[in-house]
Amino acid sequence: MTYVTPENDDTSIHTEEMPFLPPEELIPFVEHYFRRREAYLQQLKNHPSFLYVLEPNVLIERADQFRTAFRSVLPDSAFYYAVKSNNHPEVARTLLKAGFGLDVSSGLELQMALDLNAKEIIFSGPGKTPGELQLAARNSDRVTVLLDSFNELHRLETVAESTKTRVNAGVRLTTNPNGLWRKFGILPDQLIEFWQTARTCSHVSLNGIQFHTSWNLTATAQTDYIGFLGKLLSEMPDNLKENLTFIDVGGGYWPKQGEWLHPSTGPQAMLQKMDKRTPDVSKAHHQCPAEPIEVFAQKIGQAIQRHIFPVTACRIFFEPGRWICNDSMHLLMTVVDQKGTDLVITDAGTNAIGWERFETDYFPVLNLTRPALTEKPCYILGSLCTPHDVWGYSYFGQDIRVGDVLMIPTQGAYTYSLRQNFIKPIPEVVII
Ligand SMILES: Cc1ncc(COP(=O)(O)O)c(C=O)c1O
Repeated sequence: MTYVTPENDDTSIHTEEMPFLPPEELIPFVEHYFRRREAYLQQLKNHPSFLYVLEPNVLIERADQFRTAFRSVLPDSAFYYAVKSNNHPEVARTLLKAGFGLDVSSGLELQMALDLNAKEIIFSGPGKTPGELQLAARNSDRVTVLLDSFNELHRLETVAESTKTRVNAGVRLTTNPNGLWRKFGILPDQLIEFWQTARTCSHVSLNGIQFHTSWNLTATAQTDYIGFLGKLLSEMPDNLKENLTFIDVGGGYWPKQGEWLHPSTGPQAMLQKMDKRTPDVSKAHHQCPAEPIEVFAQKIGQAIQRHIFPVTACRIFFEPGRWICNDSMHLLMTVVDQKGTDLVITDAGTNAIGWERFETDYFPVLNLTRPALTEKPCYILGSLCTPHDVWGYSYFGQDIRVGDVLMIPTQGAYTYSLRQNFIKPIPEVVII
């Protein structure tokens, strides 16, 4: 059975067609962080002027909200925080304390999870090396390996045999048999063959299925795949199905504020960039709205009850990353130079986040030193020796001067983990 990716799977960005970010959403967001400004400024008294600030309380709140939403529709479910989205050990430690397991994607992440004494770990990802599989096998009481290919199944069998252990495993199904996403998992029509092959591997206990779709602003991609999976499972022989104890529906939930983008994102901006023209710095930001997590939970829960439970009674696993950690970390930086009222340079470089995020994504830059709820156009640039070192094209404040402390809130997901040693130091993390 082949899964046909829905036609609306076009994730390319065309901001021209996108709704605007309403001030009724943006202003309260900015106000919330200005209200806490003393707590953030306080951190700079004993630390360098460029920092990541981590708020573990936010992680605990998000973890509780996520679990409550899904348990209300799927009582027998388990939650694994996707470490790749923010790999600071304190983030994982906090989520373990909150009752989550960990979803790791490499030997490095697995070792961190083991060192943190995590009891429930799932190890997912393509191209696991022999060393990584060995680490998993040596800790088979705590680790479930989500297999990515037939080859990986055979390699795990060999490693588990030499370690004299039996490893719990699941298999990942690809959600898109075309293009780059094919690198993940096996094709759905290979599932029965995979299961039969696993039965010949006496050191691997295959008992789960995983799929994952990314960047879900709504639950549609997940519920469509759950419908497809229900049909696929109904065609599986009963003796194979009875070993199925879990289905892991992955992560990919977008935070409730939606995706915020600059007006200049899209084909027009690409042309401007190639042409080395300056981007449009008008204040009309765009927003791709996202569904609240409770709506995700209702829709995914209903799809599972309708398509999966009639075929097999199993536990449901979730691997949220971004949704849990996004709002828990913020960047603080200081203006070190100014070339007019409309261009400042900060001590921070975007090597701290590892990619040129703010050329496309919009986040409000808050001047904590001179707070105001008005947004003023200004290039907020980093101090790396490249013109792509951009934090934003505007700031909230009365004015902006050398020495002012700026904050970019909610930078917890896929920034800290991607930090890189490039020109400038990587900022310290303070926990408040
Ligand atoms: C298999 C798997 N699970 C979970 C996640 C976490 O996704 P997110 O951080 O978008 O929730 C990812 C992200 O790439 C993934 O590949």
